[in-house]
Amino acid sequence: MNNKDLMQLDGYDIHFRLICSEDHERLIRFYYKLSDKTKFLRFQFNTANIPKVRVHKEAAFLCNLDRNTHNAIVAIIQRDNQEEIIGVARFVRDSETASAAEFAVVVLDEFQSKGLGKKMLLKLIDAARKMGINCLLGYLLSYNDVMIHLIKTLNLKTKIINFRGQIEAYIDISQQGTDKSCGKKPKTGREFTF
Ligand SMILES: CC(C)(COP(=O)(O)OP(=O)(O)OC[C@H]1O[C@@H](n2cnc3c(N)ncnc32)[C@H](O)[C@@H]1OP(=O)(O)O)[C@@H](O)C(=O)NCCC(=O)NCCS
Repeated sequence: MNNKDLMQLDGYDIHFRLICSEDHERLIRFYYKLSDKTKFLRFQFNTANIPKVRVHKEAAFLCNLDRNTHNAIVAIIQRDNQEEIIGVARFVRDSETASAAEFAVVVLDEFQSKGLGKKMLLKLIDAARKMGINCLLGYLLSYNDVMIHLIKTLNLKTKIINFRGQIEAYIDISQQGTDKSCGKKPKTGREFTF
């Protein structure tokens, strides 16, 4: 990513880069700053009793990704003389077909509804296309109106399957929007990561 990857929000310069192993502590701080509501929307279960050791383990996993199968972009600001993560967008590839991946985006509460989530998802789509991925699947709670709206504003072919309160949102990111297999669930071994 280059200098064009800058955005200004609430007086902060935000820059975007791929996650790296030095982000471990920053990711943990990010996780603990998320509200319960945001964590529930993202992880879809009550995270209140998640032990610290698991959060640390998940952070270690996410910031040391195997880049053949995963990718993650972070949004960073400079606050209190240090880098702070304010958003994470990630995908994990289908272990069989490699042309599909599961994705997720989460933005720190104070920076939500200001265009950051959409910007991060667009960057993630760019990165996914470069890896030959044609289809992204997001698991959402059926009442997650912001994310559902965001996906619809991408103007890409999408398929939304609503089943018992959970949505599978398939986004066809192939250049012509003609990936016929988009809608088939990728096998990713889902994990709890930021
Ligand atoms: C979902 C999430 C990533 C979206 O990021 P965001 O920065 O808040 O959203 P954006 O500001 O980029 O908004 C995207 C669109 O939704 C609209 N929107 C944003 N907040 C909204 C709100 N509270 N109510 C209605 N629409 C809203 C925006 O207007 C924008 O649409 P537009 O381009 O037509 O104007 C973020 O809210 C979040 O982290 N939520 C909790 C975690 C989560 O639900 N993750 C998704 C599961 S993978």
